[in-house]
Amino acid sequence: MDFYNKIKMVERDHVVIGLMPPGKLAGIAHFAGLGESSLVIDFGCGYGEALLYWASTFGISGVGIDSSEHHIEHAKNAVGGLPIADRIDFVCTDATTYRFEPQSFDLATCITASNMFGEADVMFRNAIRHMNEAITDDGYLLIVEPYYTSPDVPKELIDYEGPLPTEIDLLHTIQREGFELVYMIHSSQADWDRYISSNLYYNVKWLTKNQDHPEWQQRLESHRRWQEMYVRHRSRYEACVALLMTRI
Ligand SMILES: C[S@@+](CC[C@H](N)C(=O)[O-])C[C@H]1O[C@@H](n2cnc3c(N)ncnc32)[C@H](O)[C@@H]1O
Repeated sequence: MDFYNKIKMVERDHVVIGLMPPGKLAGIAHFAGLGESSLVIDFGCGYGEALLYWASTFGISGVGIDSSEHHIEHAKNAVGGLPIADRIDFVCTDATTYRFEPQSFDLATCITASNMFGEADVMFRNAIRHMNEAITDDGYLLIVEPYYTSPDVPKELIDYEGPLPTEIDLLHTIQREGFELVYMIHSSQADWDRYISSNLYYNVKWLTKNQDHPEWQQRLESHRRWQEMYVRHRSRYEACVALLMTRI
């Protein structure tokens, strides 16, 4: 079987391509106490992988919101026909204005999607404040957030990615916002590579299929710049961490 057919199988069989693989999602679920009575809301759910995994493995119910029609269609296709289908809802809309029942969720998550809540220097804080409204008094927030591994990163990277916080900045923000960190797990270099690779794959697929598209040259240049920034800087100076927090 060639490479592209293998990738098709990955898509069909719904192997996780998000940054947190199943083993790490399982650890998070354990520490958040997820079970059959748990209700989860996922802001920027993408393909809905975390919700699908927690629903099929831990029995949760939930709603995933994403502004991308492509992602929501993919998520709906993935859940359709599964025994968990009646427990998971996917909604295509802007998650920052989506109206949820306040204080009704046991876990609110935002997995590498907090940039919907603002610029790099405030997105993490804004995500906490917004998601805080959704959870019960003893509920949890899970934010999977990128950060710089050092305060001294190359200017070229800051110009490209914006002023991301360091890990200690993230911890201090959690505390300032009235939360305590309960559990944390970093993405590994392999998680990062896999995540980046899934984007490379989709970009290359698009470029191969759309050679007459008016934006082709622009897309190629931004794809190449993205690769260059990953290999040159991001793989070294940028990382991601899953932060599970609650109020005490
Ligand atoms: C990097 S992806 C992460 C997706 C998913 N959480 C995962 O871990 O695979 C960011 C997602 O946020 C979504 N997004 C960006 N802005 C949004 C907004 N304002 N409302 C809802 N979704 C948004 C994008 O469509 C994309 O699916």
